[in-house]
Amino acid sequence: MQTEILKADKTGLSRGAELLRAGETVVFPTETVYGLGADALNASAVEKIFLAKGRPSDNPLIVHIAEKSALSEIVREIPEKAELLMESFWPGPLTIIMKKSENIPPRVSAGLDTVGVRMPESEVAREFIKLSKRPVAAPSANISGRPSPTTFSDVCADMNGRAAAIIEGEPSSVGVESTVIDMTSDIPTVLRPGGITLEQIEAVIGEVRLSGSAKDSRTPKAPGMKYRHYAPRARMYILKGSVEEVKAFLKEKKDFVPKIGVLCFDEMEAELNGLSETVSLGKMNCPEEAAHRLFSALRKMDALGVDLIFAPEIPEDGLWLAVRNRLYKAAGESVVNVKNAKTLLFICMGNTCRSPMAEGIFAAAHKNVIVSSAGLSAPDGEGANEKAVAAAKKLGVEIGAHRAKTATLEMLGATDIVVTMTKGLKDMIPAWGESYTLYELAGEEGDVKDPYGQSQEVYDLTAREIKRLSEKIKEL
Ligand code: TXA
Ligand code: MG
Repeated sequence: MQTEILKADKTGLSRGAELLRAGETVVFPTETVYGLGADALNASAVEKIFLAKGRPSDNPLIVHIAEKSALSEIVREIPEKAELLMESFWPGPLTIIMKKSENIPPRVSAGLDTVGVRMPESEVAREFIKLSKRPVAAPSANISGRPSPTTFSDVCADMNGRAAAIIEGEPSSVGVESTVIDMTSDIPTVLRPGGITLEQIEAVIGEVRLSGSAKDSRTPKAPGMKYRHYAPRARMYILKGSVEEVKAFLKEKKDFVPKIGVLCFDEMEAELNGLSETVSLGKMNCPEEAAHRLFSALRKMDALGVDLIFAPEIPEDGLWLAVRNRLYKAAGESVVNVKNAKTLLFICMGNTCRSPMAEGIFAAAHKNVIVSSAGLSAPDGEGANEKAVAAAKKLGVEIGAHRAKTATLEMLGATDIVVTMTKGLKDMIPAWGESYTLYELAGEEGDVKDPYGQSQEVYDLTAREIKRLSEKIKEL
């Protein structure tokens, strides 16, 4: 698809509005993140959003409006407390979930009888919606699973060729998505922390519940919160520990993979430089800056081509909660305490079939172990075998971003536990600290044989066997 690039001026916005009314998708800037918009009243237009993003169809969309009067055709009723929230926080980064009206196609609400509505603060966004004369359904304009785009260049990287038009705007000032609050439950429930803090909301309507917190075991949550999200290409771990401890850890482990990326704060950056590729989230006491920089920092890690990313532990108060939520999701909830952190390296021959599958599958089962993989003789930089990628995907594990690397003595030196696929491979590597075959580690005998050149079924069997063994391993 040829994507029109439009300026955020009268001509550009009018053209965008015209395309939207004609049932096309248009990317527009907002103060939170860029949105991928379509006419919320047109089911086939909305369908194009799901296609462009590769978005799961059970994930509902937020409907954007520019004037409060638009609400009457979108929702059935406005609860009293929702009214108070609108008065305080609209226009702004707050999405309010209410009972939906018949006009909203089920495609928008993913079959739910509720709909999330937001009035963005960004004037460009509101002008675009006004000119469209339609409520605009829009998710974040990233390819599903990737970090949300907060700059024109980030959004082009994902949506050029996938949307009918992109409106060029300033970088998003807030930088994390809107807070999503469900006003249809007896106690209002925040389903996603975001640009408006819990503290701000409670000051206006009293106690709210935070979905997913220890206090709340109910379903349903925001359907979108269950997916792997915001993910950079390299696997990410939250490192718990003081700056000194993290520094000592990095010194010891810096050769575990060829390139380690560390998300950090200005105060630490100088100390960590030289040990890793650093990207700063700004000053340690400034959550606004961290939120603003977060998603482009994750995308920068991709651009740097790092093999692993470490991120700092983040506080839970105020706007930090939104940053923390995104980082934990990006890390797939992998959290490691530096004091007892272990590095584990899977070894096979080419690092394109068995060991990348083992790396991904084991890492999903053991979120407190830092995992990578390498080959004794690998085609450096090559992707994982496509049957291996497909086999892992069937188990819910994404290894499409894997790049083969050859094991070096330095890497082995920074590894606590070496795990090979076969006894033969174990005998070929220099004796170094702890080394086991995957079967030995699981307390069994056997070899994970090379599926290379064989059918998808053989790859699937291999992946399932690796999963069984990985899940059998308890203590390391
Ligand atoms: O800031 C934002 O909210 C951005 C900009 C473009 O406005 N939009 C955005 O949309 O982040 P999206 O689709 O990436 O995230 C919407 C989240 C998802 O987690 C979704 O499951 C949840 O809101 N959501 C939407 N409608 C819902 C509903 N009716 N019930 C429960 N959750 C809902
Ligand atoms: Mg999103």
